[in-house]
Amino acid sequence: MKFHVLTLFPEIPRAFFETSIMAKAVTRGIIDYNLVNIRDFAYDTHKNCDDKPYGGVLGKRVPGMLMLPEPIALALASVGVTARAEGSKSGLQRKRVVFCTPSGKPLTQALAGELAAEDELVFICGRYEGIDQRVIDLYVDDEISIGDYVLSSGEVATTVVIDAVYRLIEGVISSESLEDESFSDGLLEYPQYTRPEIYRDLTVPEVLLSGHHEKIRRWRLRKRIEKTLAFRPDLIEKMRDSASFSEEVELIIKELENGIGFNSQD
Ligand code: ADE
Repeated sequence: MKFHVLTLFPEIPRAFFETSIMAKAVTRGIIDYNLVNIRDFAYDTHKNCDDKPYGGVLGKRVPGMLMLPEPIALALASVGVTARAEGSKSGLQRKRVVFCTPSGKPLTQALAGELAAEDELVFICGRYEGIDQRVIDLYVDDEISIGDYVLSSGEVATTVVIDAVYRLIEGVISSESLEDESFSDGLLEYPQYTRPEIYRDLTVPEVLLSGHHEKIRRWRLRKRIEKTLAFRPDLIEKMRDSASFSEEVELIIKELENGIGFNSQD
């Protein structure tokens, strides 16, 4: 998989590509990346990449600046992206273009999985108040929001999306690590503990020391349901229609709703 990131601040995504698990995946040749500085495609002497939005009222302060369309279009052309209507001139599959914005569709584990199936992805990072709508209309395939809040940096949102995507690519992390994590089957993750066994008077739940696989499985499932009910009841509702909604899950939900507890040995 190759990630192209078009940005005015390449140092932000570069730090991510050069660190930890991502850096290893790059060294091992599983991931490749290309950081393109949009400012290199600015055409005036000041290398200007933004301007006032239309719609301002005379004499009123303009709320924010927008990124100009042409430097972005030239940066896209430099990585071989054609406008959506043109399809792929080379006969190769057109690269999928992503723009992170609070007004996009929500980033989910399912969407991350879909993006991970692409050979290449191109990200446009917005700054200031955003980008000219015509760039979105002409080139962008996916407008993605990482949550209901506003960041000042499209680079940070883009890096979040890249992180959610690249770890799903085969060989980056083990498939066992992906199995029980949050959202893998619609539930949040169970709590985990490491050494020491007693930390500031808090002990590791006994069941985890028992070595009893079935009891541990049941404890973890119950903890996942407990946490999902508390923090994300919407996920439980969604899960009701899916294959992961087993009789066992239904029974645990009923017990929890009726206040039936269990001790750490169960
Ligand atoms: N850019 C700024 N805020 C964002 C958000 N919440 N999601 C995606 N991109 C953004």
